[in-house]
Amino acid sequence: MSPEADAEPQTRPLVTIIDPCDKHREHLRRALNGRYSAAAFQSAGDAVRALATIAVPALILLDERTSSSGGTAGLETVWSDPLLRDVPVVGLAKTEATDFVRALRARGCLVLIKPFPRDKLLMTITSSLTQSIEAQWDTIEPVQRSALKKTVAIFNEVPNLILEGKPIPYSDVRDSCACLVEAVRHRNFDALLDSVKGHDNYTYVHSIRVATFLSHFGHELGLRGDDLLTLATGGLLHDIGKVSIPQAVLNKPGRLNEEEVSVMRGHVVLSVDMLDHITDVPRGVATIAAQHHEKVDGTGYPRGLKGGALNDLARMAAIVDVFGALTDRRVYKDPMPPEAALDLMTEMQGHLDQRLVRLFRDMLLDAASALRSV
Ligand SMILES: [Fe+2]
Ligand SMILES: [Fe+2]
Repeated sequence: MSPEADAEPQTRPLVTIIDPCDKHREHLRRALNGRYSAAAFQSAGDAVRALATIAVPALILLDERTSSSGGTAGLETVWSDPLLRDVPVVGLAKTEATDFVRALRARGCLVLIKPFPRDKLLMTITSSLTQSIEAQWDTIEPVQRSALKKTVAIFNEVPNLILEGKPIPYSDVRDSCACLVEAVRHRNFDALLDSVKGHDNYTYVHSIRVATFLSHFGHELGLRGDDLLTLATGGLLHDIGKVSIPQAVLNKPGRLNEEEVSVMRGHVVLSVDMLDHITDVPRGVATIAAQHHEKVDGTGYPRGLKGGALNDLARMAAIVDVFGALTDRRVYKDPMPPEAALDLMTEMQGHLDQRLVRLFRDMLLDAASALRSV
């Protein structure tokens, strides 16, 4: 059969739905709408045949009713296909106590017990994609692997520890960023940036890219030691407050309305509040979080700081943040080519410090490898 594919931009990760029930397939497709593209099939065999000519999906949702033998035959069909065997599968089942669920758990796959709300479906997909991407980090070079594993752990732990009222020693955060600085110091970050591309936590992907480019920028400008670490840590945590922004606003696949813009802008104050809970956090880290959306002409937020009132580290962070946002892949847009992003940034006279933009541009044009990796 021909797949029921969405007529959506393919910038969204493709999720394959395999479910024999027409109504349930449609229900799942609607639940994914806005976050993922979907290709739906009645059987695993149909999916294997069609996907060979479409694209390898980021994830497969497979219902236990896919085959009369309780879903395990569907799993075997998927797992014996060379293109699909490494694609993460999320199983949809009525109860835990089945061979289908046991087979999935044995491979480390996640299972959703029906019925489940949309939020739980989306959260499970995110967890499964994240788990799959992070598992691939085991195959990259040790310095990059440490940088990613330690920074993602810090990124995930900081909000939880804050909610639990536990203190966070800055030394833990600094150690995670030291690995990142080390990877960047060796100009060894192509694989590092490639390795986070499919990660489903956009804020982490954006933050690690900002931290990486900021470390490189700082290193090229002569910063070393604690100063460079402050810059990298500021990059990693500059948007940490976004973990408290509702997903519906954070991942909205379109223009934000006035109220949503104001919620989104609130991430700056949230980030600064969170950083207050890190013991002995350097002032530069907090300043990067507080000022990265300020503009040199005073039209930025939250304080409308102007010219000389803007900290140098925050000016650098603002440049890298804009570059990151333009060249990031989002659910609603393709990444802008780096050269086009740099051209656009030279026109942002009132926003960005143009002396630093020129230095950033020269640095990136010098590092052709960095340009290839974005
Ligand atoms: Fe931000
Ligand atoms: Fe940002």
